[in-house]
Amino acid sequence: MSDSFVSVRNLEKRYGAVRVLKGVSLDIKRNQFVSLLGHSGCGKTTTLRIVLGFLKADSGSIHIDGQDMTHVSPRHRGIGMVFQSYALWPHMSVFENVAFGLRVRKVPEAEIATRVTSAIERLHLGGLAQRTPRELSGGQQQRVALARALVINPPLLLLDEPLSNLDRQLREDMRLELKHLQRSIAQTTIYVTHDQDEALSLSDRIVVMNLGQIEQQGSPHEIYFEPRTEFVARFIGKATFLDVTLDGAGADGAARLRTADGMEVHVSKLRRRDAVAHGGRALLAVRPEEVALASPGEAGAMRARIVEFLFLGNVYRYQLLLDNGSDVFLDSRTPLDGGEFAHVRFDGGCLVPKAAQ
Ligand SMILES: Nc1ncnc2c1ncn2[C@@H]1O[C@H](COP(=O)(O)OP(=O)(O)OP(=O)(O)O)[C@@H](O)[C@H]1O
Ligand SMILES: [Mg+2]
Repeated sequence: MSDSFVSVRNLEKRYGAVRVLKGVSLDIKRNQFVSLLGHSGCGKTTTLRIVLGFLKADSGSIHIDGQDMTHVSPRHRGIGMVFQSYALWPHMSVFENVAFGLRVRKVPEAEIATRVTSAIERLHLGGLAQRTPRELSGGQQQRVALARALVINPPLLLLDEPLSNLDRQLREDMRLELKHLQRSIAQTTIYVTHDQDEALSLSDRIVVMNLGQIEQQGSPHEIYFEPRTEFVARFIGKATFLDVTLDGAGADGAARLRTADGMEVHVSKLRRRDAVAHGGRALLAVRPEEVALASPGEAGAMRARIVEFLFLGNVYRYQLLLDNGSDVFLDSRTPLDGGEFAHVRFDGGCLVPKAAQ
């Protein structure tokens, strides 16, 4: 018996000739916060709806807390859900929308009043309790949907892009609030998003999906620093990519690589060297914060032409061009000194197998 709270095995789903889920399996421990992350259309909502029981898979199974739920109706699965489309009851007030699940569960009136009021406050909806959904903005409706799911304290919470309609400031506040809430009530949560920052900052585990399949599962740190496929490396965060072979590597993590056109590249700390055999082709991925300015002539220094920069608030992100024409992205706290060229070195990087063409 595994120690998973949620165990999803080999979900397959087709719409006509299109295979939308191709053998999706997930194991989620009790109290974990897991994000499903992937491009639009990769099958995130479909997976959630099957776990919830609103949609039947063609094959595969779902166990929750050791019980086979594959054929159990949604009401008996003990799941709270926030739908991507909110799905609020239009004729009911905010208060009644949030209270609904408690009424169905026959919770005493006095307790309903306390719990609903506290949920409404927590989601910054104070003062809106008597409005109906059409008198609210999209972001407010989204928070009502969140309050409605949280208030029943379900053992399993499914959230489908619950913050997508909020403006940036509120989204960041709500992100912190959600994390805090999830920690304090220790609820097992599956969170769907296509926002990488959200997934990285909220999750205990991230599941990256691509075209109906899982590409990689791991901690945010693993997903960011040790991508296992080219898709994950390109999908999460910004990076410099070079097509390389591994020439030699030292015990201290330093490595010598060679690009396809013969340029030598040094990386002081190369992760996942074992992903590629010596002499084999691979993709080197270097995060902007792993690229450093170097002095000309310094070991590993490469000359690069400064092409463009973006001021991101906390850093300046520079786009540079190596002599072989490859783009390099560098984060710098201060603007680079004038001049057309700079020298850079790679303080870190990760090898990823090249995707089949
Ligand atoms: N009822 C349906 N009939 C036919 N195709 C469908 C149906 N529902 C979903 N699909 C298709 O299944 C695929 C997966 O859809 P899904 O809603 O799971 O994507 P998603 O990852 O949630 O995307 P998004 O980020 O845009 O919400 C898409 O290609 C979609 O067009
Ligand atoms: Mg979706």
